Amino acid sequence: MYAVHKEEIVIDTKWIKRGESLEEAARLLREGKVVAFPTETVYGLGACAMSEEGVRAIYEAKGRPADNPLIVHVYPGYDLTVLVKTISEAGRKLMEAFWPGPLTLSFEKRSVIPDCTTAGLPTVGLRMPSNPVALALLTLSGVPVAAPSANRSGKPSPTTAQHVYEDMNGRIPCIVDGGACEVGLESTFVDMTGELPVILRPGAITKEMLEEVVGPVLVDPAVAVGAPLDHGETPRAPGMKYKHYAPEGDMELVQGELLKVAAYIAEQVRLCEENGRKSGVMVSRELLALLSPSLPEETCVECLGSREYPERMASELFAALRRFDQNGCEKIYGEALPDSGVEAAMMNRMRRAAGGRIVTV
Ligand code: TXA
Ligand code: MG
Repeated sequence: MYAVHKEEIVIDTKWIKRGESLEEAARLLREGKVVAFPTETVYGLGACAMSEEGVRAIYEAKGRPADNPLIVHVYPGYDLTVLVKTISEAGRKLMEAFWPGPLTLSFEKRSVIPDCTTAGLPTVGLRMPSNPVALALLTLSGVPVAAPSANRSGKPSPTTAQHVYEDMNGRIPCIVDGGACEVGLESTFVDMTGELPVILRPGAITKEMLEEVVGPVLVDPAVAVGAPLDHGETPRAPGMKYKHYAPEGDMELVQGELLKVAAYIAEQVRLCEENGRKSGVMVSRELLALLSPSLPEETCVECLGSREYPERMASELFAALRRFDQNGCEKIYGEALPDSGVEAAMMNRMRRAAGGRIVTV
């Protein structure tokens, strides 16, 4: 069915358009094949969570290290006690409040989930997405679906089917197009196996929102680390230790009062132009208003939208990061955002994209 050419897998990738039947995609999932599908966060690269063949094919298509576990996606009515040993009271409350939605909760797994799905961990992250196409596909397939983000390892998570195609064409049998992802950042990941819930990855469901439902919630120290951990510690979400997406160009975040940030970025962009280096800026509409008079025409400008609508900004982040590479930017200046609410989740991704480089002006 597939041939290997120069280490590239060549498979005929079928694109299922919006409005077309999901029957075939559901069948592929049931058969342990890989299907990329939309969720409200980012596109996922799915296969039956119980199928070792399917799970191995995910790792291979993604080029993902085998020690980085997958999240398992479920649909309404699925009996979770098949997958996990116990669900705490707090776990139930969080499911009730935020499922279906961008929240992943981890519990002790049962042995029906093969070790390769969780990379040997005794726990499994469960999530019920709210995207209607995802829910329909999962329900039709009738199986729990393991799915990481559908990017090649080292690229930003895909928020459109076109992004998935760029990374996965010829590597997987099927892409389901569901339009652009609404949230645009990966789900909040909360470890529910300890005494208190611990956020391993921030997302659109914020710490404050979780605490309103279950009281105190902890944040894993790795969340605040800008670059991959380098002190030899093993973070609790194995994915946190990998250098995540970093643009080809050097990215730097700039924080401070808006006028000063504008002046600093304008000066840096001018220096780039003087040295013949292509530069880019990733900014809010508010900052752009101050900055644009001083930007040379060739500057690659990615405006994420108004600071008043951080959710909107979050949904634009990954697409903007992809475009800097497409435009060959050697230097990228990003506006740092406040470290609370959904902006905290954006900053977590931006710090990692910048390898922790952040200047205060
Ligand atoms: O929004 C999302 O969560 C998307 C969509 C497709 O659902 N999925 C996603 O999966 O972002 P992935 O594999 O790209 O990121 C999952 C992160 C990784 O950092 C992984 O190490 C961590 O969650 N993770 C998965 N299972 C875990 C577990 N049992 N314990 C701790 N961390 C886990
Ligand atoms: Mg990912």
